[in-house]
Order: sequence, then C-alpha cells, then structure tokens
Amino acid sequence: MSQMKKDCGYAAAELVKDGQVLGLGTGSTTLYFIEKVGMRVRDEGIEVMGIPTSFQSSLLARKWNIPITSLDEHEIDLAVDGADEIDPDFNLIKGGGAAHTIEKIVDYSAKELVIIADDSKLVNVLGAFPLPIEIIPVSLNPVTKALEDMGGEVNIRMGQAKDGPVITDNGNFILDVSFGEIDNPISMEKELNTLPGVVENGLFTEMVDKVIIGSKDGVKYL
Ligand code: A5P
Repeated sequence: MSQMKKDCGYAAAELVKDGQVLGLGTGSTTLYFIEKVGMRVRDEGIEVMGIPTSFQSSLLARKWNIPITSLDEHEIDLAVDGADEIDPDFNLIKGGGAAHTIEKIVDYSAKELVIIADDSKLVNVLGAFPLPIEIIPVSLNPVTKALEDMGGEVNIRMGQAKDGPVITDNGNFILDVSFGEIDNPISMEKELNTLPGVVENGLFTEMVDKVIIGSKDGVKYL
C-alpha cells in the first residue's frame, strides 16, 4: 500500500515546474509528494513555494526546506492532495485526517488540482467512507440533530493519542456521518454548509483536474 502511495506521490511531484506556488495537501499519500518535491528542490535546484493545508504539511515542508507562503501573498498554480474516496466524476470524500477545511480552501483556489491516491480509493458511488464534517463545538447538538434528520448516522470523532474529541487545526470538532450512498454529492456539499455551526464538509465536487492512481500495475493517470 505504501509503495502505491509513494509511486503516485512521486509521479505528481514530477509535474511541478520551476517557479510554481504549490498547494500542499495532507495525509499519508501527500507526504510522498512533499518529500519528492523537497528532493527536487535539493537535487535539481528548482525554486517553489508551498501553501500548507495543515500543521502536518507545514512541518513536512519545513523538513524539506520548501519555503512556505500563504494565500495572502500568492495564488496557487498547482495543488496536490489525497482523498478518501474518488467517484467516476472525480467527486471526492476527504477529511479522514481532519484537514478538509483548509484543504478545500487551498484546493479550490488552485489553478490546477491533482488528486493522488492508491487504487483502493476508487469507488462507483461515494458514501461507504463516513463523511467528515468540521463543526464549531457549541453547535454539536443542533448540528447532530439536523444531520440525523437528513438521514445521517452521526459519530463525533474521538482522539487516539488524547482523551476526548479530536480537535482540528482550527480548534473545532469533527463529526463522521454515514449517509449510505451519496447520490447527489454536488447539491449535498452545498446543503450541508447551510447548517449553522458547520464549518466545512468533506465533499469536494467539480474541482479536480487530474487523478493519479498508484496500483500494483504501476501509476495510472485518469
Ligand atoms: C486529510 O484530512 C484528508 O483529506 C486526506 O487528504 C485524505 O484522508 C487522504 O489521506 P491518505 O492519503 O492518508 O489516505
């Protein structure tokens, strides 16, 4: 599995051009992208800047001496990010790592968005992976009720290395919501964000330009 993640992450890093501003996604696949970009900075002397989507990608960028900038200062030429599910129309579920809010800000503002993933992430219909929704903590009860009224089974994400709920990089909670098959991700993405207290949901629709898949048979460009 990690070889497939490495293969597609490294392949995406080969798309990077000298002088570009990069959106740096979060997760166990994008870490290989950031690693290979760092190697290219070191070995080929390409000059790039990165806009991180999380503390994780910020720390990795620093480790690899990729200069960090922000959306206040630069526009993004190319964002590369992972996904938890990818449907045939390139709609996504993201947020398994609780980073989807800043990922969405960065990914949606990029001139080009490339998604990298191993082939286990390809699905016919989104929804087997519970949908992550970042919420303002005081909205827990009303948002949970509203999501249940929409047919969702709601679980607050709990920490593994900490007691109590996961706190995102933005100081919020994450709800993981099982809706079953999501037939209309485009309208659902918009509808979920109308609930007071919802910061951002993990549906990413109509934004992806290219998908690079790592598989046992090598890298595939979709
Ligand atoms: C971070 O919150 C997520 O959106 C990740 O991009 C997504 O979960 C993919 O992560 P992996 O590459 O670790 O599977």
